[in-house]
Amino acid sequence: MHKNESPKNPRKQPAIGAGDRGLSLKTEKSNIMEQKELQKIVNPIYTTAKGTVMTLATSGDQNAIALCPHLEIEEIMGKGPKAPESFKKIYVIGQEVRFKIGNNAVLHRKEPVVVDLPSGYSPRGFVMADAGRQYYGLDLPAVIDLMKPAVRKTMSDAQRKQVRYAAADATGYQSVRDALGRNQREICVITEGLLGYLSESELISMCRAVNRLLSEFGGCWITADRGMLGIYSAIYGALINPDTAAFDARIKSKGVGMADVRFYQNSLFTGSGDDAAAFLKAQGFAVKAESVSRYIHGLRTVDTATEKRIADACAAMDIWTLTVAAPAEDIEDADPPFAVDADTRDDVLLIRVQGRLDTLTAPELLKTYLAHSEMTGKTDIDLSGVTYVSSAGERVLRMIGKSYRQAEPLTQPTD
Ligand SMILES: C[S@@+](CC[C@H](N)C(=O)[O-])C[C@H]1O[C@@H](n2cnc3c(N)ncnc32)[C@H](O)[C@@H]1O
Repeated sequence: MHKNESPKNPRKQPAIGAGDRGLSLKTEKSNIMEQKELQKIVNPIYTTAKGTVMTLATSGDQNAIALCPHLEIEEIMGKGPKAPESFKKIYVIGQEVRFKIGNNAVLHRKEPVVVDLPSGYSPRGFVMADAGRQYYGLDLPAVIDLMKPAVRKTMSDAQRKQVRYAAADATGYQSVRDALGRNQREICVITEGLLGYLSESELISMCRAVNRLLSEFGGCWITADRGMLGIYSAIYGALINPDTAAFDARIKSKGVGMADVRFYQNSLFTGSGDDAAAFLKAQGFAVKAESVSRYIHGLRTVDTATEKRIADACAAMDIWTLTVAAPAEDIEDADPPFAVDADTRDDVLLIRVQGRLDTLTAPELLKTYLAHSEMTGKTDIDLSGVTYVSSAGERVLRMIGKSYRQAEPLTQPTD
């Protein structure tokens, strides 16, 4: 790859940024981005998680209200869709409905340990701690780095004893296993707001990871990510207008969140609900489907009669409880540890990568590239030692490739 840059014009130097999220990344060695900024670039759904806690705060959730001032929410303010008031009202009610469905479904179970994978900035830890559960909030490092101090400032001592927040890649067994530390007890894994964003290989990798965790600890995996598709639309139809076309178009064009990755492109979403269940069975899970309606209770944003209308409107939507039917093989153990090193010879930068190039490790590759790219005219990346590339890894490889093909500042790829 050869650079296409004009050294005489600093404004023409390649830079990598996250487009409309206002991040900018220059390639000068002295200006290498902090780890946190690098993590945000490889994790484009970082901001959707902030949107969730902000919307929950708008719904009157006191824990979300307490958390928000500590979460640098300003960086996403004004970036969401400019929606009519009726749409905004439904986003707020819908967000509370989703949050409560997840909480109520988990609390209905007996497992003493709750693993929120991924936790984002959700106030679920407060709810679980108050209910006497041990709660693990697991997410990518940039999220955990912000969430840990926020929780320290906002939780009571008693709540803090019940919760742990740790960085983990949901698609890597070892990473999640390490985050669970000395846990020996049964776990209830809850996944809200992630499965639709995963590529096919990431989804399979996450299924394998969760299967192995459940095989080891016992317990279950709860998710309504597939079953709750269309929940905002159903609520809009029940409460505002049965003709949901305009609302659906808005959600489709913009997404309720602010993610800039493609979603719903994996086996859980591309076919029917039955196809998705068959896929999970093939991953070694027994699938129990229940209507989400039974978990719609205790809403604060609406009165009891409206709560009942929402539950009726969502009656056909499923929440799944997965348990292990066939344990997954330990194939991940074969991965060598991640390593990246760089060498410059005859104006050529040679970067060698080994192990999993995933959401946790991709920032290291980008950092290494940025630290050396100014000194050379050509870069070769040796990926022969790489055993797995996630979409975050792919994103970084494309960013590096793109910096050679265009002189303008790079924006984050959207496909
Ligand atoms: C839409 S948010 C949902 C968070 C939370 N469950 C909620 O409902 O608020 C998606 C979250 O997934 C996290 N995430 C993305 N890829 C991940 C991965 N490979 N491993 C762990 N977390 C990941 C993001 O950082 C983000 O916090």
